[in-house]
Amino acid sequence: MAASVDKTLAEQSVLSAEQVAALFGEVHAEAEADLRGVLNEKQFEEFRNHWLGRKAGVVTKITDNWLKPAPGDLKKAVGQEFNKFKVALEAVIKERRAAIEAGAEEVASAKDRVDLSLPGVVRPLGSRHLIRQVFQEIEDIFFSIGFSVVEGPEIETPYYNFEALNIPEHHPVRDDMDTFYMELPKNAPGQLLLRTHTSPMQIRTMEKQKPPVRVIVPGRVYRRDNPDATHSFAFHQVEGLAVDTDITFCDFTGTIEYFVKQFFGANVKTRFRPSYFPFTEPSVEFDVSCVFCGGSGTTASGTCGKCKGAGWIELFGAGMVDPAVYGFVGYDPKKVSGFAFGIGIDRLAMLKYGIDDIQAFFQNDVRFLKQFP
Ligand code: PHE
Repeated sequence: MAASVDKTLAEQSVLSAEQVAALFGEVHAEAEADLRGVLNEKQFEEFRNHWLGRKAGVVTKITDNWLKPAPGDLKKAVGQEFNKFKVALEAVIKERRAAIEAGAEEVASAKDRVDLSLPGVVRPLGSRHLIRQVFQEIEDIFFSIGFSVVEGPEIETPYYNFEALNIPEHHPVRDDMDTFYMELPKNAPGQLLLRTHTSPMQIRTMEKQKPPVRVIVPGRVYRRDNPDATHSFAFHQVEGLAVDTDITFCDFTGTIEYFVKQFFGANVKTRFRPSYFPFTEPSVEFDVSCVFCGGSGTTASGTCGKCKGAGWIELFGAGMVDPAVYGFVGYDPKKVSGFAFGIGIDRLAMLKYGIDDIQAFFQNDVRFLKQFP
């Protein structure tokens, strides 16, 4: 029969010291079994209440139901066994409490612990964008023949983007430019626009500096073009300008040819065709022999898709600086002459690196970027 702490010893027919010891043995075993189920703080609290609770805990009940009403001859034995039991109970409780605290600490410290055996986090190094790399290549080539590099604002006034380049207000080439104008407050002193080419820097440079001038201007330009494989509303140009007292058309073609051969290789051929720009006279378009078909217009699979069979690819606009432009910057057109060119960088990069979609430059897909470390 299991010991009951709700009944007196007499009610349980416990009359001898041996029976008292056996009874406490049972209680002790029960306490230990109970304690084994205690795994955390909450269960530990419940255990304490059940065994040590002041009002209805087992220890209180033993005091009230077993010890106090015990007959005189049994009292001593009950007192002794009870004390033994309390000491033992305290000892196992202490042990368990320490185990639980240690466990809790272990759980907590596992959270903040740094596992030094884990592999490190590799942060991949970025690289310069292909357009930047091509800018650098071009800058290096022109730098080696005496040009310096200047940069200018992407937001321009119509004066620098058009007027001073000999493009007056109602000149039809403005239509070709499909310009982005800024929305400005009504009381703004004048219009502003995203520059449609890097040519405004020709004017800004000559305003600041007397001849000789030899500069290139790498930069981003904007036109209201609908995006497709060869068009983007933002793209890149390198402007070139050389002005001095004795610059001839030969200097011009020689410089361009030198650049193209440095950039694409000695085998590439160049040609120019007459063209028109309001700020150059005469004006030309520069072509290079197609780097994909070697200028033949055909490949193993038929007509070359890149030059469409022409054998030539249009590279940039250029020309001798129109004397009218000198009037805007205070140069004497009778004393100076020079040439200017505007290279489309995206097209150049696409040709050199075999890229068939200009959008790849702007999407910044790392799978694309990684191919040009
Ligand atoms: N600015 C012209 C364009 O964007 C290119 C150019 C530059 C032509 C310099 C002649 C001289 O189309």
